[in-house]
Amino acid sequence: MAERKGLEDLPGVGPATAEKLKEAGYGSIEAIAVSSSSELAGVADIGESTAQKIINAARQAADVGGFETGDLVLERRKLVGKISFGSRALDDLMDGGIETQAISEFYGEFGSGKTQVGHQMAVNVQLPKEEGGLGGSVVIIDTENTFRPERITQMVMGLASMKGVEYDPGEFLKNIHVAKAYNSNHQILLVDTASELANKLKDTDKPVRLLIVDSLTAHFRAEYVGRGTLADRQQKLNKHMHDLMKFSNLYNAAILVTNQVMSKPDAFFGDPTKPIGGHIVGHTATFRLYLRKSKGEKRIARLVDSPNLPEGEAIFSVTMEGIKD
Ligand code: GTP
Ligand code: MG
Repeated sequence: MAERKGLEDLPGVGPATAEKLKEAGYGSIEAIAVSSSSELAGVADIGESTAQKIINAARQAADVGGFETGDLVLERRKLVGKISFGSRALDDLMDGGIETQAISEFYGEFGSGKTQVGHQMAVNVQLPKEEGGLGGSVVIIDTENTFRPERITQMVMGLASMKGVEYDPGEFLKNIHVAKAYNSNHQILLVDTASELANKLKDTDKPVRLLIVDSLTAHFRAEYVGRGTLADRQQKLNKHMHDLMKFSNLYNAAILVTNQVMSKPDAFFGDPTKPIGGHIVGHTATFRLYLRKSKGEKRIARLVDSPNLPEGEAIFSVTMEGIKD
């Protein structure tokens, strides 16, 4: 990939404009390339014709929106890898695990195991291919401050005792790159930061093969309340999802996002078993899994949306050692 350009490399974007754009969530050339001139003019206090020039330059620089021939798509698809859950039932449901070059969304109520699955995948992705991993490292965008290194250690130890080998949990923790997102704009910007990191690691022995956003929607939900702001929220969420999709293709990484269901039905998404974000998230996520609690450690995962797999359910457990059958 060519050297990543900054916003200020675009003609017409000085430091002040760049700052405004970043603050509004247009932190990358790609984000600008797919924006509209009225939108950009509004957030950056510039005229629409200037905005259009900036967008045109961004489109050239980012090389977005062009056509790709089928053989190239096929070449890229051949690289698709899977990360095993460490549970036979879940692996069967997902035909081996979560895929790279795709977004897998896990939604469900509190305590249904979304964060636990994320932690487990942050461990499993590091395993060699023969053991269900991709020999890669992971980036976690933590919006709810629920990443727990101690939990990773437990899962690594659990894995080691199951395999009868010795693992150093510290080595696993070194390949987990965590950033807290303080608000939705910051969350969006962190995908750019993740891109820089993935670019840096891409020719090492631990390329980024997994990006986790836990939770995808919590900030958006908290910040955008009221009918008037709904369109803004959906537009930003849409952009965020597309940034994630782009990341997954660019770095051959799996994207795992978590999402809550509406516990208190609001005016816009009234159904209490529906995930937040409506059709924007639903249409962009490649796989959607609905998690719910069962007795004790047991959890039920339902595959509700997939381009190539049948709907179905799997029962798994969240144990001290991690995700198990
Ligand atoms: P929200 O983020 O609140 O929406 O929930 P979530 O879906 O992310 O839930 P999470 O993955 O955090 O699951 C929490 C549940 O996992 C707890 O209620 C426990 O049942 C289980 N759990 C978490 N840590 C452990 C552990 O160390 N041992 C065992 N046995 N279970 C654990
Ligand atoms: Mg959670």
